[in-house]
Amino acid sequence: MKNDRGPIGIFDSGYGGLTILKEIRKIMPQYDYLYLGDNARTPYGTRSFDVVYEFTIQAVRYLFKQGCHLVILACNTASAKALRTIQQNDLPRLAPNRRVLGVIRPTVEVIGDISKTHHVGIMATPGTVRSKTYELEIAKLFPDFKVTSKACPMWVPLVENEEYNTPGADYFVKKNIDSLLQQDPQIDSVILGCTHYPLLRDKIRQWMPDNIHVIEQGNYVAQSLKEYLSRHDDMSKHITSEGTIRFLTTEQADVFQAKAAIFMDTAVEAERVFLE
Ligand code: DGL
Repeated sequence: MKNDRGPIGIFDSGYGGLTILKEIRKIMPQYDYLYLGDNARTPYGTRSFDVVYEFTIQAVRYLFKQGCHLVILACNTASAKALRTIQQNDLPRLAPNRRVLGVIRPTVEVIGDISKTHHVGIMATPGTVRSKTYELEIAKLFPDFKVTSKACPMWVPLVENEEYNTPGADYFVKKNIDSLLQQDPQIDSVILGCTHYPLLRDKIRQWMPDNIHVIEQGNYVAQSLKEYLSRHDDMSKHITSEGTIRFLTTEQADVFQAKAAIFMDTAVEAERVFLE
């Protein structure tokens, strides 16, 4: 049957999902991956629910058409604003046997083992913070935790514009960290709730007090996916395993290639696609 097997689809509004892809690939190099970045319409973090949902479902439909049976929304903003609707309303009629998974749940699952004070900070895009998805997911698993979220509207633009190692980055990273910790000085763990933020890791570490755990999602999402696939034979048998990665972008291919190479630490070749 056509499209019976295909790569794992990885979707992000731009380059951020590459930090997730990189970690997934480290522990599961055998699979094929199809990365799609909606770079022409990034950032999503400042967009409304309806628009993020519309863009995300377009991407999911596109990846399904390319043969992906499993799609990872490697974007917190899309996971926060579109995942539930896609899982509950779209999948049953669109493709009942295919799956779309997000990055928020696997991240939240680990904080119980990390935080001792049970006071956790979230740093994310304004969209993710407004959605309160982290608060809701943490309350389900760890009802006694206190969660304080800080929107960091400048962090994605700093990364997208390759300004993550400049005095401008120092200013905004310090400002948002200080403000988060002023709101709740008992925070001992901070989740980087945006897949772009690992590129700011040096600056974040520099301005974050040493005693605070900084939680990056990539490895946790990768481990959780590995576990998911080991439990779901019905899904893993639909994934092709030749160890390839293809990159698709809604921007010009050469623009994507130059920046994606920084995220992936290696040259990449991309193709331009159009979503509708
Ligand atoms: N990488 C996306 C995330 O994890 C945010 C980027 C954007 O604002 O589009 O939330």
